[in-house]
Amino acid sequence: MRVLAIESSCDETAAAVVDESGRVFADVVRSQVKLHAPYGGVVPELASRDHMRAVSLVVREALDRVGGFSNIDGIAATTRPGLAGALLVGVQAAKGIAWARDLPFVAVDHLVGHLLAAFLEREGSPTDKPEYPFIALLASGGHTAIYRVDGPELSQIKELGGTRDDAAGEAFDKIAKLLGLGYPGGPIVDRLAAQGRAENFPVPMPMARRDSLELSFSGLKSYVARALAERGMPKDEAEIADICAGFQRAAIGSLVTKTLRAAKAEGVDTVVLAGGVAANRELRTRAAAACEKAGKRLVVPAFASCTDNAAMIAYVGALRLARGERDDFSVPTATRTSLVRTTRKGGGPR
Ligand code: KG4
Ligand code: ZN
Repeated sequence: MRVLAIESSCDETAAAVVDESGRVFADVVRSQVKLHAPYGGVVPELASRDHMRAVSLVVREALDRVGGFSNIDGIAATTRPGLAGALLVGVQAAKGIAWARDLPFVAVDHLVGHLLAAFLEREGSPTDKPEYPFIALLASGGHTAIYRVDGPELSQIKELGGTRDDAAGEAFDKIAKLLGLGYPGGPIVDRLAAQGRAENFPVPMPMARRDSLELSFSGLKSYVARALAERGMPKDEAEIADICAGFQRAAIGSLVTKTLRAAKAEGVDTVVLAGGVAANRELRTRAAAACEKAGKRLVVPAFASCTDNAAMIAYVGALRLARGERDDFSVPTATRTSLVRTTRKGGGPR
């Protein structure tokens, strides 16, 4: 079952062809990052317009790589969660292709795509795929939560705890903005933190004393903003690096602590990282050390599988189609995930 999928939920226009074993035949991602950089974040209207320009280009490129429609058995698209206008572009394109080619169509939840991205087979993928059940930490620019994944179906995925406010990647982006470092902030803060000393800028780890698996990142931003207001903007690169290191130690510390706590509480032996923040080097090394100490196996997907892409959507679509599932063309888009959320948003740390 080779599936062509389109992803347009945020600021990447992507198309890919993948089968239900996770084999990646084509994976095309066109990032809008330069378009949004001057604004320090994604501008929804600009995102939708750029998806309109790019969607047919990425689809054509993916199809060229697999030799055209004769090698496609079904169509999938990210229908939720994401920016309303951005989602519509990819979903309408996918429905149009499915209708014109008389191919079956399925809707895919973007978060399920991230959670199963470790099953994709491509260069840089882990040699051993995860086994169910596993605990997944999904940390991206729009979402941050810890899940128990018992299987690939929606009903087999349970949120154990999520952020009460900002996503982890959003916190990296906001810190970078405060320090005038550019967008997206994650990779920049990651690089600078490696050169800095966290001891020189100690930041308290959010929600550390709580037993719950809930997370919070907005306080970290306020903490850094307050410190900068009190002591003034950093005078040199070394001071910026120390601030990045202090912030990153607290943010990553809370992600790793809560993820391991979840794995122990659930008695699950495999931990999987997912989402753009999984590219973070401190997250990778600290998660690896914590898993080794706890006797858990850590699976880190290839970098291209962590950041937004259509391959993870095509994989979930291929699994659904292989199970005989189909969606009709009336399936709507939605800004919220279809996964049940246990964490109440908006309350800040309790
Ligand atoms: O998964 P993704 O590509 O898109 C979303 O679905 O949001 O994640 C993008 C986010 C951004 O907030 C970016 O700053 C963050 O992931 N990110 C990182 C790193 N690379 C990307 N955060 C920390 N360290 C990194 N190395
Ligand atoms: Zn994403």
